[in-house]
Amino acid sequence: MKILGLSKSTVKEYFIKGKITFAVYGLGKMGLPLATILANYGAKVIGVDINEEIVKKINMGISHIENEPELDSLVKKNVEAGRLYATNDGIYAAKKSDVQIILVPTLADDKGNLNLKSVFDIAETISKGLEKGDIVITESTMPPGTTEKLIPILEKSGIKIGDFGIAHAPERTMSGTAIRDITLQYPKIIGANSIETLEAVKGIYEVINRKGVISMSSIKAAEAVKVFEGVYRDVNIALANELALWCEENGLDALEIIRAANTQPYCHIHMPGAGVGGHCIPIYPWFIINSAKKTNMELLVKARERNDFMPRHIVELTIKALNKIGKALKDSNILILGLTFRGGVKEFRKSPALDIIKELKEWGAKIFVYDPICTPKDAVKLGVMWKEDYKDIDAIIITNDHKEFKELDISLIDKQIRNKIIIDGRNILDSKRLDKKGFIYYRVGYIPER
Ligand SMILES: NC(=O)c1ccc[n+]([C@@H]2O[C@H](COP(=O)([O-])OP(=O)(O)OC[C@H]3O[C@@H](n4cnc5c(N)ncnc54)[C@H](O)[C@@H]3O)[C@@H](O)[C@H]2O)c1
Repeated sequence: MKILGLSKSTVKEYFIKGKITFAVYGLGKMGLPLATILANYGAKVIGVDINEEIVKKINMGISHIENEPELDSLVKKNVEAGRLYATNDGIYAAKKSDVQIILVPTLADDKGNLNLKSVFDIAETISKGLEKGDIVITESTMPPGTTEKLIPILEKSGIKIGDFGIAHAPERTMSGTAIRDITLQYPKIIGANSIETLEAVKGIYEVINRKGVISMSSIKAAEAVKVFEGVYRDVNIALANELALWCEENGLDALEIIRAANTQPYCHIHMPGAGVGGHCIPIYPWFIINSAKKTNMELLVKARERNDFMPRHIVELTIKALNKIGKALKDSNILILGLTFRGGVKEFRKSPALDIIKELKEWGAKIFVYDPICTPKDAVKLGVMWKEDYKDIDAIIITNDHKEFKELDISLIDKQIRNKIIIDGRNILDSKRLDKKGFIYYRVGYIPER
């Protein structure tokens, strides 16, 4: 099927009639939901992954992704219907497909220095099966300008750009809500090499995305959209953190002020907290900082520094609370609730808990951890102890917002804990209730005098 050059409406028609075959490279937290949704709307989908276990499981109709609502049943249904099939053979998938979508991680270190090997490797693979009329789409988040670097690799096929199309359509989802986000939540952003490619790609995403598409003037502009979203979050969280620190110094409650300020429609102050984790928000600012030609990206750098400082501040709050009862950190048992960087997602990358553990170790504290979606083995890997009760604990630190933590049994804690201290790095507990029970309860932006 030569998809390039077809009108948008023809692409839509062929898609739902199962006349278009997609190859989705990378069947992870984002790739598997996308592959499954494409199949569910009628397309034939070949999912490609280097991990043989993942391929085997998917071909048995089993999703390997946890905590992704609807995904299990959608994988089963579409594999059984013969619309979704997984393989390790990327060249075969390229030969058999009309549209090749790349959705593998763009790995970066803490300063945004990228390792794009997987993306370039996949482009090499696709070039061995590329045909005239095919369209290659990158969905992975990338520094603006990256997708076009794939063109010379794809041209190794002997086919020139124009005879095949290339586009960037950034994946704008979050683990845990992927199906909803891809189909219902936000418009799809698209940048393409030509009007023809744009037309066909619009047809594809208009089928699966109820919010439609936004066409950008270039591939690079489309890449910048996703990066800007992350930068916006990072800088605004840094702002909230900085204002919260000022509140602590001035005896004010940051949350009370932020909630009131945000009733004005132009004010959107974010939540202060224990820090920014994951492989997206703390990394994307560096894509911009590292590629700035003349402008000093001081604001973005300072925001990164402010957010990276927050885990240390959580430890400072813990020391302050312990000092109030005449205890030193080195003689205390600290229970960290939360290992993952955010609630409901088992992802440790740049998790504030890791920095808090490191800092507490330097102070000589005895550290225990618990996280409802982790295992004691995860604790062992971090060199800390797993604990499922509050006995002999001097202070609890909450680092993420798992729903189980929002519903903590305060009466049980009250009964078991040795010293009643809670440092809430995610603003999830009720200060009034804890005050009543005589806890020392601090949040970022709230150190009440008692
Ligand atoms: N997870 C999120 O919440 C999220 C949010 C926003 C953006 N993203 C972006 O989405 C992209 C994908 O992330 P993810 O969370 O799905 O990653 P993931 O780690 O969950 O999955 C990646 C998959 O790709 C496979 N893979 C790696 N190299 C491969 C190769 N050369 N060929 C075929 N398969 C290969 C891996 O085996 C794995 O199954 C990244 O660019 C990420 O920045 C993810």
